[in-house]
Amino acid sequence: MMNVGIIGAGHIAEKAARTLVQMDGFQCLAIGSRSLEKAQAFAARLSIPRAYGSYEDLLQDPDIGLVYIATPHSCHFEQARDAILAGKPCLVEKSFMMNAVEAATILALAREKGVFIAEAMWPRYMPVRAIAREVLASGVIGKPLMLTATLAYNVSGKERVQRLELGGGALLDLGVYLLNFVRMYCDSPIQDLSTSCIRATTGVDASEVITFIHEDGTLSSVQASGFSQGANEGVIAGTTGYLVFDDLINPTCLRICRKRHIIEQEIPIPQQITGFEYQFQACADAISAGRLEPESMPHAETLYIMHLMDRLRTEWGVPTSFVVK
Ligand SMILES: NC(=O)c1ccc[n+]([C@@H]2O[C@H](COP(=O)([O-])OP(=O)(O)OC[C@H]3O[C@@H](n4cnc5c(N)ncnc54)[C@H](OP(=O)(O)O)[C@@H]3O)[C@@H](O)[C@H]2O)c1
Repeated sequence: MMNVGIIGAGHIAEKAARTLVQMDGFQCLAIGSRSLEKAQAFAARLSIPRAYGSYEDLLQDPDIGLVYIATPHSCHFEQARDAILAGKPCLVEKSFMMNAVEAATILALAREKGVFIAEAMWPRYMPVRAIAREVLASGVIGKPLMLTATLAYNVSGKERVQRLELGGGALLDLGVYLLNFVRMYCDSPIQDLSTSCIRATTGVDASEVITFIHEDGTLSSVQASGFSQGANEGVIAGTTGYLVFDDLINPTCLRICRKRHIIEQEIPIPQQITGFEYQFQACADAISAGRLEPESMPHAETLYIMHLMDRLRTEWGVPTSFVVK
């Protein structure tokens, strides 16, 4: 049995808890919140046996085998550091950290202490990834030459999205999925990038477009917005057809088309709980095999994407780190 302790009783923590309840071999053992009342209410609502009124208390629970960090991006560094120092394997929500320096520091600490750590970039762990790569390898759409994707959710009402010092903005919340989409389905290294961004009144990046030229001549163009609702599809265009992800993060099916809107084949995605189960399973598998990182989301890839996000924000004039007074 893998006992999971969740840090932060917010939106995504609830989805994770609801997923864990339905997984064999897993138990959501504890919730940790800055407020004991909030932790107790969350625990009662989701039938979680233990509730802690501080994150530190949760980390001291000897029965917890995996800590899931589900707080704003600005909190991840300190909480991951504390979890590692407490010897607790951890799964950290995306975006992994505020910037690449934080990410490199945490990954080095985890390595030094021999503690497992991973980024909860859930599409990396899902079966759809292997299915899509098989489609591409089969040659059914010819040679893939262009990736396009949009991820636009109006999450502007969330304080953590609006505030720079909490790691707000579209990139760390949504754009990070697009960068992972590009990296998962185009193996050719990024040679060059161009980008533009519209900033919100609070200074965070509200919407952005990012274009990559890859070494083999593939082009990727992605758009993220935290202030509008989009269709949120992904398309990989090849020389003889295209592959559509009907939902970029959590597709219900993959569609292979040869000509405009003529579907040649629709590939269903295996039945799932929420899609979160694969990341928890991958952590448990890696931990029981004595590995310090999951195969599906290696540390090097998490770090590469953090560097890319630093570079993009630097181009936009968006700060990547804060000293909170
Ligand atoms: N995988 C996905 O599909 C997905 C979707 C949305 C978000 N996320 C990621 O999950 C993480 C949390 O996002 P969320 O949407 O769940 O956020 P949320 O609803 O705002 O919850 C975050 C929780 O973090 C805790 N917290 C600690 N310090 C805080 C602070 N200074 N300000 C606000 N909250 C603070 C709070 O819990 P307590 O009050 O209990 O301490 C809060 O409930 C982020 O990394 C985000 O990118 C992932």
